[in-house]
Amino acid sequence: MQKIKIAMTKGRLLGHTIKLLEKAGIDCGPLKEDNRKLVFLLPDYNIEVILLKAADVPTYVEHGVVDIGIAGKDVLLEQEKQLYEVADLKFGKCRFAVAGKPSIKDGKKHLVVATKYPNVAKRYFTEKGQSVEIIRQEGSVELAPIMGLSDVIVDIVETGKTLKENGLIVLEKIADLSARLILNEVSYKTKKKEMAVIIDLIEKAVNI
Ligand code: PRP
Repeated sequence: MQKIKIAMTKGRLLGHTIKLLEKAGIDCGPLKEDNRKLVFLLPDYNIEVILLKAADVPTYVEHGVVDIGIAGKDVLLEQEKQLYEVADLKFGKCRFAVAGKPSIKDGKKHLVVATKYPNVAKRYFTEKGQSVEIIRQEGSVELAPIMGLSDVIVDIVETGKTLKENGLIVLEKIADLSARLILNEVSYKTKKKEMAVIIDLIEKAVNI
């Protein structure tokens, strides 16, 4: 049986990913060890797992360094890589939104937008015909309107707690997000049999 390589996202999504794989009948014991390893072998179905930062998962999948990835729809929309998105895994649910201070005036001709997702923001405002300047941020995006760096932000909202605690509100919803199962296009031809078994187990487990 050929080895199947799967890239997973470290952090928030990992616990949900492990739960889903275990529901699918794939033992994830090695992944639950408390250590700093980044590569793990799951003996069931000859799977090798690598752990990456969210934004790097699509890159590894697109290059065919791994066969399968589990990534947030946020990074998929931002990066628009060449890969197959085959299933909504229904966890990591959140949304892309435009947020700002409640006092922001409607109908500004030009908006300054701070975001970790410049492509998503640019596409959204271009489609609306809104003129914008995008300022790319690495995190703590909520600070930008508070400090006067931007008029609004485009960011992920999950519980809404971060916005609320920083005196910001959702102004417009852009899109619903969740974790997705993604595949390398070439692997899916050359290792179709082995991959289909794993994909099928995962897809069935989503609805359990
Ligand atoms: C994300 C996002 C928001 C927050 C939203 O940030 O950028 O700040 O989570 O979650 P909430 O609606 O449940 O409060 P993350 O925790 O990834 O940290 P960052 O600000 O460093 O990017």
